[in-house]
Amino acid sequence: MAYRNLEIGNRDAVRTITVNRPDKLNALNRDTLNELTLAFTQAAQDDAVRVVVLAGAGEKAFVAGADISEMHGYTPVQAQSFSRTGQKLMSSIERLGKPVIARIQGFALGGGMELAMACHLRIASEKAKFGQPEINLGLIPGFGGTQRLLRLAGRSAALELCLTGAPITAQRAYELGIVNRVTAVDALDETVHVLADQLAAAAPLAAAGILDAVLQGGETSIDQGLEFETQGFALAFSTEDMHEGTSAFLEKRKAEFKGK
Ligand code: COA
Repeated sequence: MAYRNLEIGNRDAVRTITVNRPDKLNALNRDTLNELTLAFTQAAQDDAVRVVVLAGAGEKAFVAGADISEMHGYTPVQAQSFSRTGQKLMSSIERLGKPVIARIQGFALGGGMELAMACHLRIASEKAKFGQPEINLGLIPGFGGTQRLLRLAGRSAALELCLTGAPITAQRAYELGIVNRVTAVDALDETVHVLADQLAAAAPLAAAGILDAVLQGGETSIDQGLEFETQGFALAFSTEDMHEGTSAFLEKRKAEFKGK
């Protein structure tokens, strides 16, 4: 399938999905949201894909937000549909069942920050800038920003970023727990590759169980979360990978996980 606004790359079990509208700083118009939805569905269904890296084309931006020129003419009904489409995409990324790493080299603003926050891990270059500037447009975040930022960084950071609309540096985003790692500009790709390869070599069903347990756990009571974890832990004993992993440890060799 050829995409107009995305580039898809494969390196072993790592799929890279790149938003490719660099002349618009990779702003998310409706077509791009639809293409991303399809690209993530395909990545979820393809057993050969164990990890997804999400990136933005060009030097300047990961994604500079939802497409303001498109939103400008929206009726409230169209805006509601746009918000729902964006939110569904973000939730589908979060629930992909495979680790998704955001590679962030420049602006991650508005919908771009929301997209990054829907990924499981965020690696940013020291030049990256994060922010929820919707208030400067007379808007509020519409792709989950108020909710995911609250959960990632707490109420006070969520309110500060959303109410001021002011961008923050990658280092500040790291301090707030929004990004996992900050790298030198030249080290970004290598850091993302090493992490992606590490995750791709891990047991896929265990990775899916961890994603599920942590995501569910963030939305429920400790007792329900612990019960969910127990069910996932027990389920892992039905997998070939669990037997391979424990046997490999006992036989002092490297495990080869098959996702079975
Ligand atoms: N929607 C639509 N187009 C966007 C965009 C967005 N969110 N962000 C950038 N662009 C477009 C610009 O309109 C410009 O297009 P043009 O060359 O056809 O005029 C192009 O991308 C380059 O952006 P420009 O503003 O010239 O770059 P800059 O380096 O001067 O500024 C930003 C960079 C990120 C500070 C600035 O583009 C910006 O503030 N963008 C909007 C951020 C935002 O509010 N996002 C939340 C939206 S809900």
